[in-house]
Amino acid sequence: MQRILVTGGAGFIGCNFVHFIMVHTRLHVTVLDKLTYAGTIDSLSGLPSGRFEFVQGDICDAALVDSLTPTVDAVVHFAAESHNDNSLEDPRPFLDTNLGGTFTLIEAARKHGTRFHHISTDEVYGDLALEDPDRFTESSAYRPTSPYSATKAGSDLLVRAWVRSFGLQATISNCSNNYGPYQHVEKFIPRQITNILDGVRPRLYGQGRNVRDWIHVADHSSAVLKILEAGRIGETYLIGADGERSNREVVEMLLEIAGKSRDAYDLVHDRPGHDLRYAIDSSKLRRELGWMPGYRDFDAGLSDTMQWYRDNEDWWRPQKAATESKYAGQGH
Ligand code: NAD
Ligand code: TYD
Repeated sequence: MQRILVTGGAGFIGCNFVHFIMVHTRLHVTVLDKLTYAGTIDSLSGLPSGRFEFVQGDICDAALVDSLTPTVDAVVHFAAESHNDNSLEDPRPFLDTNLGGTFTLIEAARKHGTRFHHISTDEVYGDLALEDPDRFTESSAYRPTSPYSATKAGSDLLVRAWVRSFGLQATISNCSNNYGPYQHVEKFIPRQITNILDGVRPRLYGQGRNVRDWIHVADHSSAVLKILEAGRIGETYLIGADGERSNREVVEMLLEIAGKSRDAYDLVHDRPGHDLRYAIDSSKLRRELGWMPGYRDFDAGLSDTMQWYRDNEDWWRPQKAATESKYAGQGH
């Protein structure tokens, strides 16, 4: 494998993956990204021009996708509408990109016989009770609850059907919540970090009891590379780093890192249909492919992430006011 196409490579996880690939492999990367509100070329600055090219375009554009696919050995598909709160306000772009865009890509990949890796989320499995000892596995039932997770679930099922019916050379990964550099300020951790840096109190939905299973984005990248190189065709791998924390715990940790009082946050009205808890059992990936997360210390990872936002205000500041005014309109 020499050349890959990365869709959504100007977004949070996609750009981290591209930076990771540049350091850890000799692959040539073409990024295909529409540059929606969630993507910026600034996240890809400093890459070696001989091994990297950027194409601005829509994954729903069949002619464009069909022309790019035969130029690469594999497609790694990150592009998506990714924010639950937005999907509750306006689901249409989620159907178009997450379902229509994935359909367009897998049609091109099957036509050209191109290896395909589909990036998905643990949210396709719905949620778990707070006190439940169970975690999601590859055989958990699909029970998505939001427009975002329903369209991601649908996209997974399309990929599975294309493997079975058309012999698409595909793998799928479902990862838990990521944190790290270059994450849009609409998402929980960067929103709270940038609020704290602005002297604004963090905002917890409901009582802050909901649990997410946090993984550093660099560990997501290393897992995807492993699956791309050694994953079994047709298989799904869950990616997680045993990072369960309640939202309240995360906010308390951020406040403490910033030297503020641990209770200096506000409770705001809850997200409709808010999933209670996600938790991943990633033993298949660890056992079959020998993958292990590198970031074991969540406190240190949060601290590094806060430092990145301190050091890179130019990157996030342009999005902050518009994001907060959207949240204000939703009562969040
Ligand atoms: P993001 O919103 O930060 O980035 C999405 C990128 O896709 C942006 O650069 C955007 O411009 C691009 N894009 C959107 N629609 C497009 C279209 N029609 N054509 C081309 N490009 C388009 O998202 P993210 O958080 O980096 O998530 C990336 C992938 O990882 C998604 O598939 C998401 O479902 C999955 N995922 C995310 C998380 C998480 O914690 N953020 C966890 C598990 C899985
Ligand atoms: P988010 O980053 O939107 O990811 P997801 O909905 O995919 O899990 O939110 C993570 C958790 O944080 C989720 O339980 C909702 C909660 N949340 C808040 O409590 N306050 C906020 O301001 C935001 C954006 C999210």
